[in-house]
Amino acid sequence: MPDGRIAVIGTGYVGLTSGTCLASLGHEVVCGDVDPAKVERMSGGEVPIFEDGLQELMRQGIAAGNLTFVHGARNAVRGARFIFLCLPTPDGGDGRADLRIVHQVVAEIGPLLDPGAILVTKSTVPVGTAEDIIVTLDRSDVSVVSNPEFLQEGTAVRNFMKPDRVVVGSQDRAAAEAVAALYDKLKAPKVITSAESSELIKYASNAFLAMKLSFINSIAGLAEVVGADVVEIAHGMGFDERIGDKFLKAGPGWGGSCFPKDTKALATIALDRGVSFPLLAATTLSNEEAQDRMADKVRDAAGGDLAGVKVALWGLTFKANTDDLRDSPALEVALRLDTEGARLRGYDPTVSADLPAKNGYPAVPAAGDAYDAAAGASVIVLLTEWAEFAEIDMTKVAEVAPGAVIVDGRNLLDPQAAVAAGLRYVPLGRRPPGC
Ligand code: UGA
Repeated sequence: MPDGRIAVIGTGYVGLTSGTCLASLGHEVVCGDVDPAKVERMSGGEVPIFEDGLQELMRQGIAAGNLTFVHGARNAVRGARFIFLCLPTPDGGDGRADLRIVHQVVAEIGPLLDPGAILVTKSTVPVGTAEDIIVTLDRSDVSVVSNPEFLQEGTAVRNFMKPDRVVVGSQDRAAAEAVAALYDKLKAPKVITSAESSELIKYASNAFLAMKLSFINSIAGLAEVVGADVVEIAHGMGFDERIGDKFLKAGPGWGGSCFPKDTKALATIALDRGVSFPLLAATTLSNEEAQDRMADKVRDAAGGDLAGVKVALWGLTFKANTDDLRDSPALEVALRLDTEGARLRGYDPTVSADLPAKNGYPAVPAAGDAYDAAAGASVIVLLTEWAEFAEIDMTKVAEVAPGAVIVDGRNLLDPQAAVAAGLRYVPLGRRPPGC
């Protein structure tokens, strides 16, 4: 294991998970954040995000004394050999990632770093960022390394501990190898590349997965028209090892804090360099169409007009096992329904208060449970694949929403149970029961 303390700058979901997991591998880790109240809570073992297994590891690290939290980047980096930048890189509004926070922090901590320190970009940054950081840093005795994360929200700890691969890129091979050695205990394949390749591997992976999802969602649309079944199609395709059976579940479109932003950012990176890459625009467009189709299904279920129709939304987060609502396809569908005058009520296991209108999405009153949301609704649309929805008692649903139509946007529910309870059931990309 390489010597040297690790500083993690930024304790969002990437920074907190990475810092905590690196500490659990035996490294000494100091996490710095700008928010003093959050630092205090985390020092007390409180996890500010919903992430399975994180709290336990964090408490273990704090108790063992090799995981600490401090206020400010400056306090974290003193004496550190590895400095992981886990900072926000939001969409700058034009599809390009906004790197101002990254450069501000690099300028702030640059003069404080020990000679031989290694600055590591962990959050997703556009190709060329390592080179730009070298300029901002202006220190020939400090190396810059790209080490993108491939964590999925909800399973981040598992993804960190059992990664498919560890990617590290730098012009300084020795620095890249030192960063790769931090993960020795994980026994994952290591891919050591140039900084540019490493930065692009991250975007290419996310955009490819988004494209795969857009593809299967378009197949779902086609399957409905020709009388085929998208679940059977995905099953049949998945046996081909070149395709694989993962990320082939049709849904109401993909979302979250990464896929939409990264697909657009990669398109802009290509455009800025004069490289034609039409698949990326098509991937985003197909996703919007999948969301449109979901809204179309709800309107059809309501008899062609949504004005004044009570619609229950089952699931609001962008996927199950997270409390993240950012760029949620569920909210995209809610927006389309709201625009047509539907009266929405939502239930999500992680949402306890009414959602205010925000970021262009409509307000959604929150129900206490799935039955409460369904009460009096003409249409119920399942948008997020929370496991608890599969356990729903359809007889109880039929009691609170007699004659309702259930639109199953994730093909999660038992169609026969819904029909047996007297409800109409509309699946995605496959024939409704009895047709
Ligand atoms: C994604 C990538 O999967 C991670 O590898 C990456 O590290 C992360 O972005 C990031 O860049 O930080 P995440 O945003 O947590 O992870 O979400 P995913 O699990 O990839 O799901 C994305 C969307 O695809 C969700 O809306 C989900 O419901 C949808 N999805 C996923 C489907 O509709 N069908 C599927 O079969 C799989």
